[in-house]
Amino acid sequence: MVVRPLQGEFAAEVIGLRLPVDDATFRDVELAWLRHPILVFRDLQMTPQQHIAFTRRFGPLHIMEPLQYNLPGYPEIFVVSNVEEGGKALGMKRAGWGWHTDGEDKAIPNAGSMLYALELPPEGGDTLYADGYAAYEALSADVKDKIRGRRACFSRIKLHHVHYPHLPALTEEDKRKRPDVWHPLERRHPKSGRTALYIGRWACAIEGMPEDEGAQLVRWLQEFSVRPEFVYRHRWRLHDAVLWDNRCAQHCATPFDDAKYRRHMLRTTLEGDAPMMATSPARSLASP
Ligand code: OGA
Ligand code: MN
Repeated sequence: MVVRPLQGEFAAEVIGLRLPVDDATFRDVELAWLRHPILVFRDLQMTPQQHIAFTRRFGPLHIMEPLQYNLPGYPEIFVVSNVEEGGKALGMKRAGWGWHTDGEDKAIPNAGSMLYALELPPEGGDTLYADGYAAYEALSADVKDKIRGRRACFSRIKLHHVHYPHLPALTEEDKRKRPDVWHPLERRHPKSGRTALYIGRWACAIEGMPEDEGAQLVRWLQEFSVRPEFVYRHRWRLHDAVLWDNRCAQHCATPFDDAKYRRHMLRTTLEGDAPMMATSPARSLASP
């Protein structure tokens, strides 16, 4: 197995990994992921069982609900796909069209996700990743002062109709299941100990700030965090699997002609921890 940088420290590719991996190799992968939040495995041959077993070594898996888009027989695998068979969608279409981190709208967001490419369109359908560590480091002292110790509100309830205009409105029961959550803007990564700017498309307000000022700063942070200098564009090759770290990186799907081409991807999702405020006293930093 060889690890080669793709863009600075942010993204790297892993060549020659064969599953299953032994403990020593897994430890190397884990260390590589800590250093490179976007890890691209090339030419990975894996069955759904192997995908699940490999991801599970990083921690407990999350099962996406409702089970509508999961691979039959493999609830741990979420299908991102525009493919239909017999008039039935095999997966979620147009998932992630907009900058976000997986699970940012939940009290316990997902630590990471691993997306595996099984069918790709000949053009379009790249995935963009934005480096939250680099964005945080690049903030001016003035903006850092403004966000220090503050949390942002992430709200499905307020933004569902904005991000999912094509879906039915949330019912009262949906709203009860997805209450607003508050996460630190300066987020300490539990394993690297580094601080990332934690923002995404479900953010809408900042605690302790008047509504207008908070909303304006959220918009500014959203735009700042995805400036081109922080972004890696992943151009998928068949049998790439990308493991990304939702605690310090956002991602965003890009369009392709989904009436004409097929794009079929399988994703496993890691459970996470409650985001930690960077200014809170450092806990002992566990090594992976
Ligand atoms: C996801 C996601 C983007 C893509 O699977 O979480 O946002 O390009 N996917 O498919
Ligand atoms: Mn996503």
